[in-house]
Amino acid sequence: MELKSITMEWTGESLKLIDQRKLPLEEEYVECKTYLEVAEAIRKMIVRGAPAIGATAGFGYVLGAMEFHGKSRDFNDFVGWMKKVKKTLEETRPTAVNLFWALDRMENRLMECGKMDGILEKLEEEAVKIAVEDIETNKNIGKHGSQLVKDGDTILTHCNTGSLATVDYGTALGVIRTAFEQGKKLRVFVDETRPYLQGARLTTWELLKYGIKDTYLISDNMAGWMMKKGEIDLVIVGADRVVANGDVANKIGTYSLAVLANKHGIPFYVALPTSTIDLSIPNGDGIPIEERSHDEVTHCGGRRIAPQGVKVRNPAFDVTDHELITAIITEKGVIYPPYEENLKKIMKR
Ligand code: MRU
Repeated sequence: MELKSITMEWTGESLKLIDQRKLPLEEEYVECKTYLEVAEAIRKMIVRGAPAIGATAGFGYVLGAMEFHGKSRDFNDFVGWMKKVKKTLEETRPTAVNLFWALDRMENRLMECGKMDGILEKLEEEAVKIAVEDIETNKNIGKHGSQLVKDGDTILTHCNTGSLATVDYGTALGVIRTAFEQGKKLRVFVDETRPYLQGARLTTWELLKYGIKDTYLISDNMAGWMMKKGEIDLVIVGADRVVANGDVANKIGTYSLAVLANKHGIPFYVALPTSTIDLSIPNGDGIPIEERSHDEVTHCGGRRIAPQGVKVRNPAFDVTDHELITAIITEKGVIYPPYEENLKKIMKR
């Protein structure tokens, strides 16, 4: 069983990931042959973006299962080993719920199977299914979301939510891409997204590849001024976790954009697969926010830009209050407030 996209390739024996740390200057792939290598790839952000992390972890789980092969034929021993594999993969990044969603799905498949016979095939089938479904899901997000985009609109986006952040096609970027493919003339403003520069390095690279020539890179602190000048018609971002009341965790800087959009009366949309919805957490206060290495802030492009000894904070995500969100775009349709009620309804569908 094989799967190939720009972000990842499953060969049946290993997972090849495009090294997102090196884009856009170098297009190199890293091959992971063990579950520990997959965990390391997620931790080091060789692969990143909520749905991409989920799909990658699914393949990491399969590699973990393959590594057990020949050690024992006892199903309980295997379950014990797989618990360790799952925990290791779960401990890579805390905020994007897709990671936990995909691993729970893999574990459910394992328990359903209940015996060693054919287990590797079943797990591989499930991981490929997660990846294939992700592409279809993103295309449906694009279909629903593109109805909110008019010909001639200028859209602001943040971070990277495209093919690279998913298995393929993208969520928020998928919406932009669909609207463009429908023939709408668009201008796209891309926040550079300090400190990791996903916008500058990855989103602009993707948009230019799709042929959206009216792509403008701006530094994060320019967005408010552009809004004030009336240059932005709508904002579309992705999400790492949406909780029961509709609060949204996404890349640091998303909250500031939502406040600015609200102040200027600009629609603020969040696009995501329903696998990003976590109804077990009542509101944004309960979302674990990853703090990353201080080097990401003190350095830029591999060079130190701040004095030695300065204290640093580096939360990788923030939480946007549901009141600031105009609508949530999913593969099952567009949800409007009241989110508490409408998220529950869409999860039941
Ligand atoms: O730290 P990252 O690059 O993994 O963060 C990615 C984001 O915040 C994206 O906006 C989010 O995962 C949605 S991707 C479709």
